[in-house]
Amino acid sequence: MNRKSNMILAAALTAAIFAGCAAPAQAAEMSEKEKALSNPYPNDFGPDSLPADVLKGYPANVQAGYKKLVSPKAGCAQCHSAARPLNSRFVEPEGGMDEAKQEAALAKMRKEQPELFNDSSIWQVETKVWSRYVKRMMNKPGCNLQKPEGKAIYEFLAYDSIKRKTGANAAKWAEHRKGLIEQLKSKNPKRYAELKEAKDL
Ligand code: HEC
Repeated sequence: MNRKSNMILAAALTAAIFAGCAAPAQAAEMSEKEKALSNPYPNDFGPDSLPADVLKGYPANVQAGYKKLVSPKAGCAQCHSAARPLNSRFVEPEGGMDEAKQEAALAKMRKEQPELFNDSSIWQVETKVWSRYVKRMMNKPGCNLQKPEGKAIYEFLAYDSIKRKTGANAAKWAEHRKGLIEQLKSKNPKRYAELKEAKDL
């Protein structure tokens, strides 16, 4: 081995050691963030905040969860915009952490609002869907969210999904969500096809 290749080897080793010990969490966060940003969802074309009048009508604990969600440093907006959860198709039945209550609420929704089960790109109604997603996001490397924030955010998402996407607001929601899907389809047809194929639209 000549001197030059020795130097290159030494430089590569130094780089490898630093890559291994210098802020690995930060590097991982970058890759999760990059992943989140390079793979857009229709959700991302919608607003990244709730109108003040909508928020004002929510209970205090739910408003507190919303404030945590939109926080850019330690909220859901750390890796992608808050638009992603706020314009999501996920709807969690009422009942909180009580699964039997959620099952009963789901059965009632099926009976009274069958339109919510016609098109899963508009509404994906599923027991515990938001608690599962908040946990999934919190498990991502580099995520700054702690347990109490996760719980508050979950409470907001579950409450807001029923309020803003079902009942009296169902038709308005469907129109909004269809518009977002149309935007993804025209602006990024490749990603649209990919999400459709993966049944993740
Ligand atoms: C550490 C980075 C990171 C943080 C923090 C984060 N996300 Fe995500 N999120 C991602 C990535 C990456 C994706 C792409 C899909 C995947 O990996 O699940 C994503 C996708 C999503 C989606 C789209 C899923 C779909 O199939 O429609 C939703 C909704 C979402 N995140 C909600 C949240 C919520 C709610 C929070 C806060 C509790 C949050 N995210 C915090 C990285 C993050």
